[in-house]
Formats: sequence, C-alpha cells, structure tokens
Amino acid sequence: QELTYHESLPSTQEVAHRLAQEGAVEGHVVIADEQTSGKGRLGRVWHSPIGTSISMSIILRPKVSPQKAPQLTLLAAVAVVRGIEKTTGLQCSIKWPNDILLNGKKIVGILTEMQSEPDYVHSVIIGIGINVNHKREQFSSELREIATSLAIAKGEEVSRAKLMSSVFYELESLYEQYLLEGFDVIKPQWESYAISLGKRIVARTIQGTIEGVAKGITNDGVLLLEDDDQVVHQIYSADIEI
Ligand code: BTN
Repeated sequence: QELTYHESLPSTQEVAHRLAQEGAVEGHVVIADEQTSGKGRLGRVWHSPIGTSISMSIILRPKVSPQKAPQLTLLAAVAVVRGIEKTTGLQCSIKWPNDILLNGKKIVGILTEMQSEPDYVHSVIIGIGINVNHKREQFSSELREIATSLAIAKGEEVSRAKLMSSVFYELESLYEQYLLEGFDVIKPQWESYAISLGKRIVARTIQGTIEGVAKGITNDGVLLLEDDDQVVHQIYSADIEI
C-alpha cells in the first residue's frame, strides 16, 4: 500500500485529488496529523487539531458508473464502525449516509468525492475523519453538544496507529468483497448498523425539506423516504434529523 504522510496539511482530500489526477495507484492513502482547513460535507469545515484525530483520504479506482459511488461511502462507514469496535470495543451506529455516531454524538465524518466521466469513474476519494483523542475542552461549546471522541467515551487514550491499521484491514476486506460480489453483500452489513431505518426523519435537501419514514436504501445507496402521502422520495444528499 502506498502512503503519503504529512504532519500538517490544509486538507488530505485536496492532496488525494491531486495525486489521483497524477495517476496514483488504487489504495494510495494520504494521512495528516493535523488539518488546518479540513473539508466537511455540504461545504462545512471539519476540525482536526494536532494529535487528536485520524485524518485520511483513500484513493480508489473501482470500475463502476458514477451513480454507484455512494455505495463506497456506505462501505467505508461499515469498515470504520468495525475498526472502532475491534480496537476499542465501542459500538457505533451509522446515520445515513455517512455519519458515525456514538452515544448519539458524531464521532466520524466521511466525505466521498470523485473524478469521473459521465459513464465511468476515474477515481473515488474517500475522506475519513475520526475524533480519537479529543478532550472535552478541545471541542467548542457548540460542538460539545453534537460531537464526541473515542477517548471521551472510553475514559482513556486510544492508539491512533492501531485504530488506523484496523480500519485499513476492514476496508480492504470489504472492498475485495465488494469487487467480487457487488454491493448486495455490503448492504445488509450497513443496515445492521443503521439507526435511521424504519424511523421518522426530517431530510433537508438543497431542493427543500421532506419529512417521513426512512424505508431503506436502494442498491445504489440512495435513501428511500416515504412522506405522509405515501410518496416515496429518493434522497441523494441531505442532512438527516432523527
Ligand atoms: C462530514 O462532513 O461529516 C465529513 C467530514 C470528512 C472529514 C475528512 S478528514 C480527512 C478528509 N480530509 C478532509 O478535508 N475532509 C475529510
């Protein structure tokens, strides 16, 4: 596995995009000890202060159409939940599409971006940010309400190196499974960790807000939301409130 390590970067995501363009091999990982302008979903900022977080971006080159890229976000979420469970014993859950929660608070963010033509993908960049050793006071008072870290939950520091290698191991085995057998084998694993399914949720999309019951995900990883008129909406990107 090829790896690019930096002590400090604005964002591992940007470097991974550049390396992908320059022809980096599948599986190439960009890691930073600190990000000074980490990118979150929907244009948000992602905080990864020095020494506290795992911040990495992985370059994948699956031979799939761009519509299938969301499947990889879900696959990555399963890998991270497993890696966390194996290294710390803590059980997280997944809020569609890519938030990983512990005790109802966010502990991991995943950002999937791609470079593609209309019919095929050049590369998918999976950015993973894990709150590992943040102390409570390292979160702003606003973030403290909605975010937590593994160390806070466990009451002791967690080895970032061990956790990272465990996440890589899980990611690699799930990705191999995915390439051989498709998303069908990943979907039930994702569903077993999902918290929003069957529940009433509010989805805020760019087109507007839809309220209803989360019915499940499609084979492409799209969320199906049934509103009060029994109309089923396909949600590609949204903020979900449970
Ligand atoms: C989210 O909004 O939940 C997604 C957060 C993704 C953060 C990770 S950290 C590594 C990679 N580099 C970035 O700039 N963002 C992603």
